[in-house]
Amino acid sequence: MNRKPLIAGNWKMYKTKDEALAFIYAVNLEVPDKDVVESVICAPAIFLRDLVKREGENLRIGAQNVHYAQEGAFTGELSANMLKSYGVDYVVIGHSERRAYFNETDETVNLKLIAAVNRELTPIVCVGESLEIRELGTTDAVVGKQIEKAYLNVDAEEALKTVVAYEPIWAIGTGRTATPDQANDTIKAIRLVLAKLYGKEVAEQIRILYGGSVNAKNVDDLLAMSDIDGALVGGASLDPNSFLTLVKAAYKKQTK
Ligand code: 13P
Repeated sequence: MNRKPLIAGNWKMYKTKDEALAFIYAVNLEVPDKDVVESVICAPAIFLRDLVKREGENLRIGAQNVHYAQEGAFTGELSANMLKSYGVDYVVIGHSERRAYFNETDETVNLKLIAAVNRELTPIVCVGESLEIRELGTTDAVVGKQIEKAYLNVDAEEALKTVVAYEPIWAIGTGRTATPDQANDTIKAIRLVLAKLYGKEVAEQIRILYGGSVNAKNVDDLLAMSDIDGALVGGASLDPNSFLTLVKAAYKKQTK
């Protein structure tokens, strides 16, 4: 199965307006053909309009969160409809930082996934275990449960419109990357859960990214693994050249 790689930068709460603009001008004409590799920047909401306007032919823009309701009295929140109306194409859902600091739960992840798909935003659905769980040896069960809960009431056709990101919490921002084998093994376990829910054929088509200290040095080894379909990148997506190195690595792998 040749799944199209996706490299998504997650800027988290970094950059000013000028820095965001400098980034987009540096990369918008340089990212590879989107038919070969999908290159995405998930930016703070305040930058989305400026970035979408300058995304060019091959880059796409994503948000870092969305509310699950269509509209309503939810001060400070953004709906899928609002994001879509500004030309945003992706949204990160259930990032471990949102789970840890902003009361994101498996239930809200599920509702947000459904809201995004309904509005034709591609959700990048994040799952991942703590160091404690990794050391206990129950990673596959814990991550599998996160997937089952995220995809509750989601049918196969909808599931095909989603992307999963496996991000072990202990590898995020720590410089401690999961080894390619560790990442691939857990991603295979995630694909087995998706196969149980939707059948093997569907599961084989859903892209599953790895995230956690991905950088120019380790990206080739990660992308070389059978089940890793790209990366969700924090720190190494902030610098234009670093981001371009990652998307170009995916392009090279795909075209060699
Ligand atoms: P780092 O690449 O900085 O470890 O962050 C990973 C991440 O959380 C992306 O969503």
